[in-house]
Amino acid sequence: MTPAFDPAQAQVQPERVNQPRVNLGIAGLSRGFMFTLPTLLAETRLRVTACADPLPEARARFQRDFPGSAAYAEFAALCADPRVDAIYIATPHQFHATQAMAAARAGKHVLVEKPMATSLACAQAMVEAARAAGTALVVGHSHSFDAPYRAARQLIASGRFGRLRMITALNFTDFIMRPRRAEELDSTQGGGVVFSQAAHQLDIIRLLGGGMLRDIRATTMPARGTEGGYSAHITFTDGAAATATYDGLAHWDSNAWQDGIGEMGMPATPFDAAAIRAALAVPDEAALKRARGYGAGAAQPAPATHHAHFGPVLVSCDDAVLRPGPAGLHIHDAAGTRLHAVPLRGRAEIFDELLDAIAGRPVTHHGAWGLATLEACLAILRSKGETITLQHQVPCP
Ligand SMILES: NC(=O)c1ccc[n+]([C@@H]2O[C@H](COP(=O)([O-])OP(=O)(O)OC[C@H]3O[C@@H](n4cnc5c(N)ncnc54)[C@H](O)[C@@H]3O)[C@@H](O)[C@H]2O)c1
Repeated sequence: MTPAFDPAQAQVQPERVNQPRVNLGIAGLSRGFMFTLPTLLAETRLRVTACADPLPEARARFQRDFPGSAAYAEFAALCADPRVDAIYIATPHQFHATQAMAAARAGKHVLVEKPMATSLACAQAMVEAARAAGTALVVGHSHSFDAPYRAARQLIASGRFGRLRMITALNFTDFIMRPRRAEELDSTQGGGVVFSQAAHQLDIIRLLGGGMLRDIRATTMPARGTEGGYSAHITFTDGAAATATYDGLAHWDSNAWQDGIGEMGMPATPFDAAAIRAALAVPDEAALKRARGYGAGAAQPAPATHHAHFGPVLVSCDDAVLRPGPAGLHIHDAAGTRLHAVPLRGRAEIFDELLDAIAGRPVTHHGAWGLATLEACLAILRSKGETITLQHQVPCP
């Protein structure tokens, strides 16, 4: 029997590292930023000094949450602020590339939300801009930062359970049926579940399997004028294989297979497919999304009680199945089933990497890593049932 998960035992504070604090600016006071807020408020290694967002009500709330901070309507002003060392770019997808490049040119380190960009050319230009400026570029948050996947990666790399042969990843959500901005339903601007959600799922698969994908064959599922789902068969250069399935049409909630714990590591009520559809019958969906946002007073997420996750993931090795999930890492082998406990640190791992990258230490989610995950996402979009060979893959460090 798997032992019960005790959140109190697992909860740890971010490490207090004896290094100068980094001044962080936030671009885009979005849902992405809100999920990171509990970690940011607890962080002792960073000082949040400024933000940029065109919405005045969002800027006003930010200055209440971070007293003494500066708040700008324009991204350029954030780049010009000498009190900012690094910028967390959590704006809509179509702005990631231009903003990351502008930040690098201004000498700022960058943490950019997934997806890194909407084209390979843009991602390459971002990597080049950071290289030319000598600034750090980290791509995240993606769920591959979540501790149970990292713990699984360590065990896989140790060879303790033999070779990794197959990964099975699936996630059934309401993603595409939530209130959306117009661009989020336009694949040419980074909309649809492939840019938003495969960016998590493929990042996890790449991390678990060592990073080096060989090819992808996929089909997508249409919804609301964009992609609402996909099914992909993926091979690694070492011959291992993965299947990735995503269905965001709000017909069934796979949190039911994750002990009822939602993506952000909190108990989740199964969604109501009819109510979700009824809520979309409004003239201005983007306004409805804004009304649930940071500036409109949305409740700050509480610190997670469990690990965040991205749906059921099963890793088949020669001698075990590993199952990272909300309680930690389940190990199923000939000796039985056990839970490998993993410390609960919210999103502190993204700031571990940002600070490591700034200090010149190697990190997993550097620019070329993000570019490789983007290449895999773009392959899902291009494939239409044909096999796409990947050319920009990089290994886990
Ligand atoms: N990692 C995660 O768990 C997670 C979760 C949600 C969203 N995200 C990511 O966060 C990013 C934002 O998506 P969202 O759905 O949260 O967005 P959103 O629609 O909730 O918010 C976008 C915000 O950006 C602001 N904005 C628009 N243009 C801007 C500009 N030029 N400069 C500065 N701010 C600008 C808007 O006013 C708004 O406050 C995306 O990259 C998305 O993929 C990540």
